[in-house]
Amino acid sequence: MQTYFAGRDMITTQEWTTDELNTVFDVALELKRKRALGEPHPYLRDKVLAMLFFFSSTRTRVSFEAGMAQLGGHAEYIDHRTTQIAHGDTGKEIGAIIGRYCDGIAIRQCDWGIGNAYIRSVAEHSRVPVLNMQCDYYHPFQALADMLTIFERFGRNVQGLTLNVSYAYAASYQKPLSAPQSLILLASRYGMNVRLTRPPEFKLMPDIVEQAQQNAEASGGSFEILDDFDAGFENADIVYAKSWGAMLTTTDEQESAEIAKKYTDWITDERRMSLTRNGEGIFMHPLPADRNIEVTDAVIDGPQSAVYDEAENRLHVQKSVMALTMR
Ligand code: CP
Repeated sequence: MQTYFAGRDMITTQEWTTDELNTVFDVALELKRKRALGEPHPYLRDKVLAMLFFFSSTRTRVSFEAGMAQLGGHAEYIDHRTTQIAHGDTGKEIGAIIGRYCDGIAIRQCDWGIGNAYIRSVAEHSRVPVLNMQCDYYHPFQALADMLTIFERFGRNVQGLTLNVSYAYAASYQKPLSAPQSLILLASRYGMNVRLTRPPEFKLMPDIVEQAQQNAEASGGSFEILDDFDAGFENADIVYAKSWGAMLTTTDEQESAEIAKKYTDWITDERRMSLTRNGEGIFMHPLPADRNIEVTDAVIDGPQSAVYDEAENRLHVQKSVMALTMR
């Protein structure tokens, strides 16, 4: 078990060793147990987390705020519409100045081609940990929560389990690539058979796919890419089907939405879930989902859905990383 994390950033799980990530999961489960028993755990008393949001959120905001309160500290919500963070304050200034006021800086900045570079700029100039609440490339806390949920359902040895990370159609907006990219990177560290299913126009970033392939080779797992939605479900233990944008095909939102219309039948339904291993595979989604467009009510509200445990686990993994890094 690794024991010294003070000052560490969490921008992508790729920058943490598997041993370190295992400690994050162990501590998350311990904090989850303490919360279930009502045991106080104020490991961050008097500490302050600045949360900078350039993009809207429900789960991320509420879980980070609740988590800081449960750890005995405080979280400040800093919205781009009511502060100067989106017009004037540079990454360097945010890192240098907010790093002097607060004990951690958490950021959600999902603008394509901008978000990750901004977070890295803040981290370079901050003397306190920087936590990525989602950027254009990565959503590490979502992937950690996803993985904790998989461990809870299947046990810590997930070697050989098949995880299908799949594109699904959505009409609402062109969602970032960060959730599927972070999950293929993390699951491939644990020897899983990771399957990426997507139409040709909805590729993920090639260097991230290559890292996932290398992770799979190193961990004794496998990595494959499919472009047939139904084939992705076959014998999968876990289906993680959600929408993302065609950013690598076009940066034009309208054109991306037009391309997506070719795939309106990429919806998770009961027939497709019956194709999973013994018809009992679990369904996961980071939420919010476009109901009856990405996934039917019958599946997301049905017995194979793990979405509420997955959402709850955001709280526990985030508290774990905050308690380990912000002390
Ligand atoms: N899954 C997730 O990050 O949800 P929010 O966008 O609501 O924070």
